[in-house]
Amino acid sequence: MTDYTDILTETHGRVGLVRLNRPKAMNALRGHLLAELLDALRAFDADDSIGAMVITGSERAFSAGADIKEMADATPVDLMNRGLSDGWHRISTIRKPIIAAVSGFALGGGCELALLCDLIVASETAQFGQPEITIGVIPGAGGTQRLTRILGKALAMEMVLNNRFLKADEALQHGLVNRVVTVESYLDEALKLAGEIAARAPVAVRLGKEAVNSAYELSLTEGLAAEQRAFYLLFSTEDQKEGMQAFVEKRAPAWKGK
Ligand code: CAA
Repeated sequence: MTDYTDILTETHGRVGLVRLNRPKAMNALRGHLLAELLDALRAFDADDSIGAMVITGSERAFSAGADIKEMADATPVDLMNRGLSDGWHRISTIRKPIIAAVSGFALGGGCELALLCDLIVASETAQFGQPEITIGVIPGAGGTQRLTRILGKALAMEMVLNNRFLKADEALQHGLVNRVVTVESYLDEALKLAGEIAARAPVAVRLGKEAVNSAYELSLTEGLAAEQRAFYLLFSTEDQKEGMQAFVEKRAPAWKGK
């Protein structure tokens, strides 16, 4: 699929950029947009010339969440048949790092999409919230779990039960985002960060992402064992030999991605 209607894709060197592109609907995440997003991310994931990805929206809205108009009349079976949750889960199976470049509203599923990314660069106007309670539901794409793990129970409860928004500086203070920069520079900053990561040893980047994310899934003992296996595995790569040799020879390494 390349003739996308709900997203735009670009490449910037070794970085694949996806722009959510439903400006009139505040980038609401209808099923079609999610399918296109997943398709684009998978294509970048399979492309050896890409090392990292950035997802962004507009200055006004990263995304205002799942498309309320599309969901309003749905039955539980409709949602199951549409595979709503599966789409979200599949984004977490992308192997290369994804950075969310967030400005303006990141609400409901929009906040959850940012949480599915590996790093978040926010503009000063970014606002994170889970307003589902105001329309009679709760977050359905991971918000109750991921926010609680990152922010702790107290703040997550306020967000989920009482529509508490986190402004950019609070999000930074609580470790939800990596950095906050001006509206003029947030996308460039995200592309720069993605470019730096994309220039690093690709297999180590992939295993590093997997290892950090497994900290949310596994016990400490299991997580340490997974980390150890990944660490040992990297000694089978040419890039490990090259990286350590380059250090000894005081030169920059030339990565091969194998
Ligand atoms: N779904 C569908 N359409 C949406 C939308 C959404 N989530 N958010 C905004 N829009 C549409 C509006 O309906 C409006 O369309 P029309 O011009 O056709 O009326 C357009 O985008 C502009 O929105 P507003 O006029 O409301 O703009 P505003 O600046 O006054 O307010 C806002 C902005 C605060 C983001 C407000 O639009 C809003 O509260 N949106 C809904 C946020 C929300 O509740 N998100 C949770 C969705 S449920 C979910 O995400 C479940 C899950 O966990 C997966």
